Amino acid sequence: MNRLIVGNWKMNGLGAALGEAQGVAAGLGGVVARVGICPPATLLERMSRALSGTPLAVGGQDCRAEASGAFTGDVSAEMLADAGATLVILGHSERRAGFGETDALVAAKTEAALRAGLEPIICVGETLAEREAGRAISIVTGQVRGSLPKSLADRPFAVAYEPVWAIGTGLTPTTEQIAEIHAAIREALVGLLGPAGGRAPILYGGSVKPGNAAEILSTAEVGGALVGGASLSAADFLGIIAGA
Ligand code: PGA
Repeated sequence: MNRLIVGNWKMNGLGAALGEAQGVAAGLGGVVARVGICPPATLLERMSRALSGTPLAVGGQDCRAEASGAFTGDVSAEMLADAGATLVILGHSERRAGFGETDALVAAKTEAALRAGLEPIICVGETLAEREAGRAISIVTGQVRGSLPKSLADRPFAVAYEPVWAIGTGLTPTTEQIAEIHAAIREALVGLLGPAGGRAPILYGGSVKPGNAAEILSTAEVGGALVGGASLSAADFLGIIAGA
């Protein structure tokens, strides 16, 4: 399966940043990986228009589980799709930690993404304290089992392993540590979803840069990358994509 490389712009990007996305699209000739950018919701529609006719996909960074209603400030999966998104990141650690998102809520949001025809990218990952306590595998596989509804079988989706301590820190796990967790996630996915769980790409995320992307992307069971800071620059993001 082709690799999936997704940029997560987080709360960064005004209209002037659309040029970076167009720069990425212009550099995708000959790239076999599927590539997407998840800008802030305010840029989704403009970005999807600017990229129309290119292979670069756009996505949301979160969604509400409900389709519509009295939820001031929130955005539904249907609204993301209406703005041109085909992907959505769910359960990012910044939302789990900062907004109290539970596995059950992430599962409900995943159902919403499927309802709206979006391809969900469900994030899991342990904190440094959990890793140091020897609990990384049990935390991550527990998040997989709790956050992925059975309805994912036979729908396109991805899981992103993002160790919390590697996000935005410049620290990355060794390729042995990445391979160990990705193997455990694969086993959990197959246990949960059967053969469909064997096919979904498992992305790695956390301080992926042009200098470490090729090594990480050639690690066993790494089916792509979820990239934060380095996806804000077309040159850096293309440098990562070149490693796929
Ligand atoms: P980073 O973020 O690449 O800036 O470490 C990754 C993420 O949070 O998805």
